[in-house]
Amino acid sequence: MQTNDKKVLITGGGSGIGLILAKTFLNAGSKVIICGRNLEKLEIVKQELSKIEIAQCDVTSDEQIKALLEQCKEDFNGIDILINNAGIFNIFDYKNGKLSIEQQVKEIDINISGALKMVHYFLPLLLEPKEAAIVNVSSGLAFVPLTAAPVYCATKAAIHSWTRSIRWQLKGTRIKVFELMPPLVDTSMVQELKGFPKMQLDELATKFMMGFKHDKFEITPGPAGQLKMLSKWAPGFIFKQLNKNI
Ligand SMILES: NC(=O)c1ccc[n+]([C@@H]2O[C@H](COP(=O)([O-])OP(=O)(O)OC[C@H]3O[C@@H](n4cnc5c(N)ncnc54)[C@H](OP(=O)(O)O)[C@@H]3O)[C@@H](O)[C@H]2O)c1
Repeated sequence: MQTNDKKVLITGGGSGIGLILAKTFLNAGSKVIICGRNLEKLEIVKQELSKIEIAQCDVTSDEQIKALLEQCKEDFNGIDILINNAGIFNIFDYKNGKLSIEQQVKEIDINISGALKMVHYFLPLLLEPKEAAIVNVSSGLAFVPLTAAPVYCATKAAIHSWTRSIRWQLKGTRIKVFELMPPLVDTSMVQELKGFPKMQLDELATKFMMGFKHDKFEITPGPAGQLKMLSKWAPGFIFKQLNKNI
């Protein structure tokens, strides 16, 4: 898949992994639009990167997604690449009941329903260009759950399964379906997780681009690849290893 001269929409592109991917696509000569819930955060990005387009959009809101779709049609004349990156991560323990049921359901809404809704509304637009792509950002934890983040890991396993199905269904269309499964990456999302090695954002972006350019549909940088392999060959071992201090 080519990375230059594309029109790229990245959900949750105002920080972390979404932002580094936005910068990487801009540097490769693509047009990029990023969205998120917090407009102020997006405006700060716009001050640094004048070429980037920003839009306030909560991926759980059908109305806001429809408005974003119209903006993409009018300002961009369509898009070629949709990156479903928006997500949240909650650590909690069922024994102390710290996380409300509303927060647990919200994690499912953003991490799963958000991506589903984006694909639902943007699919007709993505079928128009000669070559298009959907990139779903799941996690290495889709293969082996980190028990401290039970709902999060379940959402990423769901995204992995769903991505395989839509990739299969869209075979023969112009849309290629990718999945980026990052390992632990140094972003504010996982700052609570101490004592685990974290990949730097630049390294993740480089590995993503390499896989994307070569049509590697499941991109598993660094330790995410090991999690995938060990979940097949030694599932009990890797589960215990990952959770031994939790
Ligand atoms: N960091 C890691 O170790 C790691 C590892 C594996 C996978 N991932 C995945 O990578 C993705 C990006 O995470 P990150 O580490 O870069 O964290 P991050 O910096 O917190 O980025 C998450 C982004 O999602 C946006 N977002 C959250 N809820 C949203 C909603 N309802 N609608 C639209 N945007 C929303 C946030 O912006 P607003 O708050 O402004 O909406 C934020 O910009 C996530 O899907 C995450 O699960 C991360």
